[in-house]
Amino acid sequence: MEPGIENYKLNKDLFGDDFVWGISTAAPQIEGSCDSDGRGKSVWDVFTEIKGKVLNGDKPTTTCDFYNRYRDDITLVKQLNIPNFRFSIAWPRIMPSGTGNVNQAGIDYYNQIINYCLELGIEPWVTIYHWDLPYALEQKGGWTNREIVNWFGNYVRVCADNFGDRVKHWMVMNEPAVFTGAGYFLGIHAPGRTGIKNFLPAIHHSVLCMAAGGKILRERLPDAEIGTTFSCSYIEPYSEKDKDVAAAKRADAMINRLFIEAVSGMGYPDDVSVFKEIENYMLPGDEKLMAFDFDFIGIQNYTREIVKSAFWVPYIGAKLVKAEDRNVPITSMKWEVHAPAIYHAIKQFNAYPQVKKIIITENGAAFPDVVINEVVNDTERLTYLQDHLSQVLRAKNEGCKVAGYFVWTLTDNFEWAEGYHPRFGLIYIDFSTQQRIIKASGHWYGDFLK
Ligand code: BGC
Repeated sequence: MEPGIENYKLNKDLFGDDFVWGISTAAPQIEGSCDSDGRGKSVWDVFTEIKGKVLNGDKPTTTCDFYNRYRDDITLVKQLNIPNFRFSIAWPRIMPSGTGNVNQAGIDYYNQIINYCLELGIEPWVTIYHWDLPYALEQKGGWTNREIVNWFGNYVRVCADNFGDRVKHWMVMNEPAVFTGAGYFLGIHAPGRTGIKNFLPAIHHSVLCMAAGGKILRERLPDAEIGTTFSCSYIEPYSEKDKDVAAAKRADAMINRLFIEAVSGMGYPDDVSVFKEIENYMLPGDEKLMAFDFDFIGIQNYTREIVKSAFWVPYIGAKLVKAEDRNVPITSMKWEVHAPAIYHAIKQFNAYPQVKKIIITENGAAFPDVVINEVVNDTERLTYLQDHLSQVLRAKNEGCKVAGYFVWTLTDNFEWAEGYHPRFGLIYIDFSTQQRIIKASGHWYGDFLK
């Protein structure tokens, strides 16, 4: 067992007065009302219509109805003493066809959310892109079309100009490794494209967009704090054998290093030889356009991965050894529960001199909650959060520049290709009645933050 702080001693003051506490959400997972008030279609609206893509055929059309219930839900954020609320702007609500016309009803909607947060003394943290690409842009090639740098830039300008007078904390993108890897290589997320010829340009264009978005925000909002978020899973080799160690190194390059190194001006890691082919999509001067000095990096960690050499797996020659086959505790996502992973993820990102500040912008767990007499006693989630927080504190006490922690997530919601079965919320949702019940973990977080 690796060291941590014993949970019963866990106390908010140990993190210091400046530590930022919050909760994270994303528009496509909570809003619903996909056709309301002039919103255009997103790639997820179309993808979820295809049979077999989402578990049980679940659709994001209503989810937890945040679109209509945002006041009630933000009031719950207040009730839980959570001072910072992270949400994303739906690009197709603001610009229904992705570029050109701006939909005033969409702007009004996010203004209401921002204003309501501020009225309650809650700081809004805005993610500009959390995977809901306007479908009209996907029809033009989506992330594989270099034109996206202009489309995205215009969208960022609209966000900055309409919300920047009140929003002081921005995240340009959410987890590019996931929407490019799952959406353009494996085909298991929207838009469902596969193959290296989609994956490599999608990687490069999302890096260009991240950096361009950062620059646009800084130019227009010089006082704002600008970040972007990355998924990261701590990687360990299956054995000490050279081939497993080398496989783990390649997996680490793909899962953890690819995007942070690209935006930090280090280029693409050469440990995975196929990344060399990204050069085919680069134009002269791109190295410079790929980099931006973000004020903070959001890291999102849920688990660790154990990696084994697998020569037959194309491009990477490595495979993840499933947690289920390792006889370890797992969540509803079948992810291993392993709190030291977050400590190692922080250490890894902390080692880049370019990273000025780290905020944990997501951490949390899905477990099969049960309601008994209107109570959800989710002890597993509660322990998960406490154990992970104690590992964050361990990293902080060792001098890492970690400055904040956001739980994923406020309410149970639409978990992408997994539909509604994984419940990640601090608040339980009965999807048939939209009743909300604060789980034990939510009450704990609220008391902790008091
Ligand atoms: C994403 C969230 C997602 C969560 C749990 C992150 O990859 O940003 O949208 O729900 O992890 O899977």
